Amino acid sequence: MNEALTVALGDRAYPIHFTDSKAALRQCVAELKEAKREIRVLTDANLHKCQSDYLQAVGFAKEEILSLPAGEPTKSIESYAETLRCLAHENLNRDSALFAFGGGVIGDLAGFVAASYLRGIDFYQIPTSLLAMVDSSVGGKTGINLPEGKNLVGAFWQPKAVFIDTGLLQSLPTREFAAGMAEIVKYGLLADRTLFEELESLGAPNPESKALPAIIRRCCEIKAHIVVNDETETAASGGRALLNLGHTFAHAIENAAGYGDYLHGEAVAIGLVLATQLSVNLGQLEVAWTDRVIELLQANALPVRLKSALTISDLVTAMQRDKKNRSGNLRFVTLKAAGEAITTDGVETALIEALWQGVGAA
Ligand SMILES: NC(=O)c1ccc[n+]([C@@H]2O[C@H](COP(=O)([O-])OP(=O)(O)OC[C@H]3O[C@@H](n4cnc5c(N)ncnc54)[C@H](O)[C@@H]3O)[C@@H](O)[C@H]2O)c1
Repeated sequence: MNEALTVALGDRAYPIHFTDSKAALRQCVAELKEAKREIRVLTDANLHKCQSDYLQAVGFAKEEILSLPAGEPTKSIESYAETLRCLAHENLNRDSALFAFGGGVIGDLAGFVAASYLRGIDFYQIPTSLLAMVDSSVGGKTGINLPEGKNLVGAFWQPKAVFIDTGLLQSLPTREFAAGMAEIVKYGLLADRTLFEELESLGAPNPESKALPAIIRRCCEIKAHIVVNDETETAASGGRALLNLGHTFAHAIENAAGYGDYLHGEAVAIGLVLATQLSVNLGQLEVAWTDRVIELLQANALPVRLKSALTISDLVTAMQRDKKNRSGNLRFVTLKAAGEAITTDGVETALIEALWQGVGAA
């Protein structure tokens, strides 16, 4: 339990540190400095305000910290350019290393900066949101948004190490914590029925829950296993795409509602309800699972219906634009059983429209 988990990607394998992560991070920073390598840490204004002591405690100097505004708009071409120019202005060379200290926004942006600055420099993840701890900090997907859509530009660039310290969750707003829980429920549904059942018996964990570190570790194990087998999501079926359970629906909600109304995890929660119902309607999954999924999400203060009516046509159009589709066909991740996800093509639009209606779309 105390040992780091390895993401076994051959010569790019890397550790995810858990219980000893603060000490491991302090050692990593010290070693880079001893080797006279320049380091910078990218963070956002919220974390800079409430967790800058942490950064100093692990060895970052004030002038090594770059802070950007908090929130999804920071995953932009403007912040990307600003960060690159900052590194160039300070003459950082190919030996330098960039750390991401934040949620998925900072992690995705910092990763893409690291992937492209001088054609690639070392990159480390210190996730601070629950979502980033269980999902975005592992697996090497980095990128930014364009006004035309989310995550349209990016690169696969694996970190050199991930340092997960659940103590950092103490300052995470409750709504953000709940959003991270949606991704945890997703892992249970797609790969681990026992995890799902453990979550059912726990009710609603909070940052102090004793069970939380092991749950986070289990999610990272599932993600690492899937990523190692299909790093760049090219498997013809199954593979890394399974991590998108509920996400075709979720992206459509975020897109149709305009970014800001729903946190990503909140949209994922509704997406999980819809993916479960779709699996039931296709005859793949027992009916009882719909209620179980709804109850677990509600116990974690997550929405299971749209907050206000979105139009079915906007939602279906957004789904058709989703970049995960192959050859113009709608592709879904569905459940053959709890803990066993598959990719399913050729679902009829009428069925999808009926499902949208069921969660309050007009
Ligand atoms: N790369 C991937 O594989 C992957 C996977 C899933 C999601 N993502 C991306 O992740 C992003 C969402 O990530 P997120 O939900 O972490 O959002 P986020 O980075 O915006 O963080 C959410 C909010 O919580 C604050 N915050 C984070 N940690 C905190 C802490 N410990 N204390 C106080 N405040 C804290 C942030 O300042 C922000 O306001 C999206 O852009 C999504 O596309 C990427």
